[in-house]
Amino acid sequence: MAIALIILGAGMGTRMNSDIPKVLHQIAGAPMLVHAMKSGAALAPSATVVVAGHGAAAVEKVAMAFDPDAQVVVQDQQLGTAHAVAQARTALDGFDGDALVLYGDTPFIRAETLAAVAAARLTHDVVVLGFDAVDPGRYGRLIMADDQLDRIVEFKDASDEERAITLCNSGIIAAKSGVLFDLIDAVGNDNAAGEYYLTEIIGVARARALTATVVQCGATETLGVDSRSGLSRAEALFQTTARATALADGVTMTAPETVFFAHDTVIGRDTIIEPNVVFGPGVTVESGATIRAFSHLEGCHVSRGATVGPYARLRPGTELAENVKVGNFVEIKNAQIAEGAKVNHLSYVGDASVGARSNIGAGTITCNYDGVFKHRTTIGEDAFIGSNTMLVAPVTIGDAAMTGSGSVVTRDVPAGDLALARAKQDNKPGFAKRLFEKLKARKQKGA
Ligand code: UD1
Repeated sequence: MAIALIILGAGMGTRMNSDIPKVLHQIAGAPMLVHAMKSGAALAPSATVVVAGHGAAAVEKVAMAFDPDAQVVVQDQQLGTAHAVAQARTALDGFDGDALVLYGDTPFIRAETLAAVAAARLTHDVVVLGFDAVDPGRYGRLIMADDQLDRIVEFKDASDEERAITLCNSGIIAAKSGVLFDLIDAVGNDNAAGEYYLTEIIGVARARALTATVVQCGATETLGVDSRSGLSRAEALFQTTARATALADGVTMTAPETVFFAHDTVIGRDTIIEPNVVFGPGVTVESGATIRAFSHLEGCHVSRGATVGPYARLRPGTELAENVKVGNFVEIKNAQIAEGAKVNHLSYVGDASVGARSNIGAGTITCNYDGVFKHRTTIGEDAFIGSNTMLVAPVTIGDAAMTGSGSVVTRDVPAGDLALARAKQDNKPGFAKRLFEKLKARKQKGA
């Protein structure tokens, strides 16, 4: 059955106390909306409709960046979840498959859970994802009658008896698209909140002799975020899970509680990650690499056997080949470092390529920016860049070429040549001794 996702994200999120729309707040380096879209994408949907409201332009930008085929519709006034879903009607006009409603502020729903909801739809007209809550708080309660879901009652409208029920509504609902919109047409706003509740469609469906059921998942999956403290709890939950997964996948971490992963970090087996390492989005580390303490990696690829850090920063576009060594206080950006090359201390390598086995001396800087444009530095194989060399790009250093320490290299260096670009040394015999004596004498006189 073809599936369309309707992802709700129009709510203001007042308790976030923010100018940023709630669904764009980030967990593990990705907006919550992207987490929800990623979960839904596992069902290979034929259409994805995001319902935006507050900060709709920003929400649209993020949604389209993740999925250029997504459609973003705007709910100008937030009149309730049923009203929000109704905004997707035109976008899904003529769509004959199932519609699955997701929340943009519920980031942890697993693909397997959504697959179970989609499977249950084959035997029931309406499927709700529920969970058993230890503390059901203000969640909507699922009222069962025999083997059917009979209705959902919102906390505000529930009796004490209904509030005692612990089976709660996650908010995720699936039905055939046409059926969903027909049911929504019958929803009014005569309730404690004065809102059009999506949850009302269950009662309407049952009154029309349609079937309804509940698929259950764990409470952590349905965790929603509506405050900064909720956001930090969600981040902590993500990190705890990501660390456990990495350990189970054969990654060694000496202090896992100090390592932070992004939503898409990939780490190979037998890689060692020392304490206090942060992975931003877009990092892949192959097997058997070592990421030493206090390193920060983002948008980069580290190959087998490479060593990074301690205190290294790999920025987007960094590609380290096998057995590369990047040492302390080194920053690399948009640069390809070939097999066995070493950048061991205190260097900046940006917009560059470094050939196999080349050695970049301490304090080397690729001067890649002229204030307006960025330029590339190309270093060949087996080259030796002396300490404290300024490579003023665009510039090419040939294979097996050398630069003298402290050189400011502005012209290409042919293969096998040595470039010296610094003032010639001039020694003044005995000058230092005489100067010291003069200064000491002055000090004794109390000058
Ligand atoms: C909703 C459910 C409740 C469930 C809970 C789970 C209803 C009536 N209630 O309650 O049963 O237990 O979620 O978290 O559905 N939204 C819009 N437009 C609106 C209103 C909401 O886009 O007009 C979006 C919000 O941005 C959010 C989602 O819908 O992503 C849920 O809205 P929220 O107000 O948080 O619903 P709850 O009152 O928590």
